[in-house]
Amino acid sequence: MSRAPRPRKQQLDPLFESILSAPDRDRCPLVDPVVSFAETDEAGYLRSIETAVERTVALERRGAYHGEWAVLDAEALPRALRSPADAFSNDEIFSAIHARWHDCKPIVLPSIAADVVDDFAAEIAERDALREDLSTAGGLRQFVTARTAEIEPAFELLAKRAKLADPERDIERVLLASFPPTGRGKRIEDLWLKSAWLSTHDDDASMRLRFSFGSERDDDASRDIVRQRVTADLAERLLPESAALSAHPALAPLLDKLCGESVLFTQHIAYWNSKSGGALFHHDAFAEDAFDDGTWRQLGVCYVQLSGATAWLALAIDDLAARCAEFVEALAEGALPWVRAQLCGGGRPPIPGGFERLWQLAQDRAACTAELALPGQGALGALVNRGPEFTSFLADAGHGFVLEAGDAILLPNRGLHATCMHSVFCASEETGYSLSLALRPNREAPEDTEARSRDRRSARSRDVS
Ligand SMILES: [Fe+2]
Repeated sequence: MSRAPRPRKQQLDPLFESILSAPDRDRCPLVDPVVSFAETDEAGYLRSIETAVERTVALERRGAYHGEWAVLDAEALPRALRSPADAFSNDEIFSAIHARWHDCKPIVLPSIAADVVDDFAAEIAERDALREDLSTAGGLRQFVTARTAEIEPAFELLAKRAKLADPERDIERVLLASFPPTGRGKRIEDLWLKSAWLSTHDDDASMRLRFSFGSERDDDASRDIVRQRVTADLAERLLPESAALSAHPALAPLLDKLCGESVLFTQHIAYWNSKSGGALFHHDAFAEDAFDDGTWRQLGVCYVQLSGATAWLALAIDDLAARCAEFVEALAEGALPWVRAQLCGGGRPPIPGGFERLWQLAQDRAACTAELALPGQGALGALVNRGPEFTSFLADAGHGFVLEAGDAILLPNRGLHATCMHSVFCASEETGYSLSLALRPNREAPEDTEARSRDRRSARSRDVS
């Protein structure tokens, strides 16, 4: 019997090959690679994408087009274009993830919470109606009131009205008190939940529901472990799917192992990312790197997609500084002249100081990193949020990820100068529901001085995006 002729190997486009095999491309283990494309790209490049494409995503946020991505099936790629991590043993995968954690690089965990998506299908299905309810003032109080049985007698919804810190985006804030379970100890009266829009853009219906305590901003990085734990308890009673994440048999031990100690999931934020919505580039860090021995701080954030999909750009702040320098050097050499003209041209360019300022930052890595840590990334804000050129550039460098329901992303954090920067887009037709959980050591914090507390107030929280 004669053997059937083997199909001829598809000739892949050299650009496609060079993007996937670039030595400095970021390769997170377990993750399908993402590349950017445009309909106007060379036919050979588009054909190469077709050989392995799993899905495509068109990125748009608040009226700004950020291009298109193709998520590739790694198994459909020639071995030479796959990540070496695809052949790793479990121990090697953990070592690679551990190294990423300490380098503040994002870690994507595909399908890790697929069981939560299944087990809490009914609750997750109700979350879209909850978003609707929370979009008008009064809806949040009604949500908590309807769950009195779940929170009492440990918690009590207080009648007093709470001020809104950001009247343009905040919708409603409710206050709660908690009682110590033993009857001894202090009653805590400054727990709160807040519903808010993510932006004021007309086309963006994205929302969040935040659980925290004390004064907004000043207490965002609070070292009060009792209130951190009580806040977590409240969130887990009101959103039971979050309790399944903090007790998750794979996720929780992995985080304990990465951090080298027991981790508390707290200060929950439920996110609804709607079409054309998402978050601009930001970090979730506080000015905590200079405190004590530096170990009692926010360790990072764990974001879990529970319905819909989101697209992410995520990378260590050092890596973003390096990519900014690379991009600015390409602009200096004449690449993408329209980007330089729009960002740095005459009139009132969005980058104060124009190209000269960009060039200075590109040449001074420490200054560039410090600029990226500023709210809105200072002079670099217009560049890092520039689509589709800069977004595509980062995706082709391996910093783009697409999260589907059940996937999680870890965003490690050691303070303002060692953190994971990220930018989020909606990647589904429907509004996606997700939970973002701050990670802190599950132990008493060392004594803090008033001066240190004051310094920490310069911090910004992950709620600002
Ligand atoms: Fe964030």
